Amino acid sequence: MSHSWKTRAETSADTGAVRAISLAAFDTAYEADLVEALRRDPAWIEGLSQLAVAEDGTPVGHALLTRCHIDTTPALCLAPCAVLPEYQRSGAGSAAVRAALAEAGRRGERFVTVLGHPAYYPRFGFTRASAHGIGLDIEVPDEALMALSLDGSSLPGGTIRYAAPFGI
Ligand SMILES: CC(C)(COP(=O)(O)OP(=O)(O)OC[C@H]1O[C@@H](n2cnc3c(N)ncnc32)[C@H](O)[C@@H]1OP(=O)(O)O)[C@@H](O)C(=O)NCCC(=O)NCCS
Repeated sequence: MSHSWKTRAETSADTGAVRAISLAAFDTAYEADLVEALRRDPAWIEGLSQLAVAEDGTPVGHALLTRCHIDTTPALCLAPCAVLPEYQRSGAGSAAVRAALAEAGRRGERFVTVLGHPAYYPRFGFTRASAHGIGLDIEVPDEALMALSLDGSSLPGGTIRYAAPFGI
């Protein structure tokens, strides 16, 4: 089912709803706790936690971009992305991701990385990170680590340095 979702930035009133989305979408509280730790971390950037909302304004989907680095070059990490199970596969996740990427571009951000489903993220323009010389200090499936240039410039090669709450 396709649906035209409204999107908006998270506000302080949404923190409970954002936690509820992650708790419902994932098997453990890891991602919900990660979002809360990131919110208290210098990696958090106001406006880059984006929600897909139902007609009545209730958040149903969430996409979060926080600061990371590729070696020393500032970039953004897309994680987590989550949608309430009853609304999955109706475009809410894509709407939240597109809103987050668009807002990042408006703010002059250039590079985004994601570690996730290789079947999902290429639709937003992500390509295999290793093809750009981007890697990680931990072993991950090569196709799961992806990167995107928001302004069309070449991605910098290097190792992704995550914000401390990721523990990577
Ligand atoms: C992954 C997730 C955020 C996608 O959001 P969504 O609103 O369900 O997805 P959309 O409706 O925007 O897009 C639907 C597409 O996503 C694909 N998709 C959804 N979940 C997927 C998954 N787990 N793996 C791969 N593709 C997935 C669907 O196959 C569909 O593809 P199609 O358009 O080619 O048919 C959401 O399903 C979710 O919360 N899943 C559980 C948590 C999770 O796995 N988060 C991602 C961590 S990397």
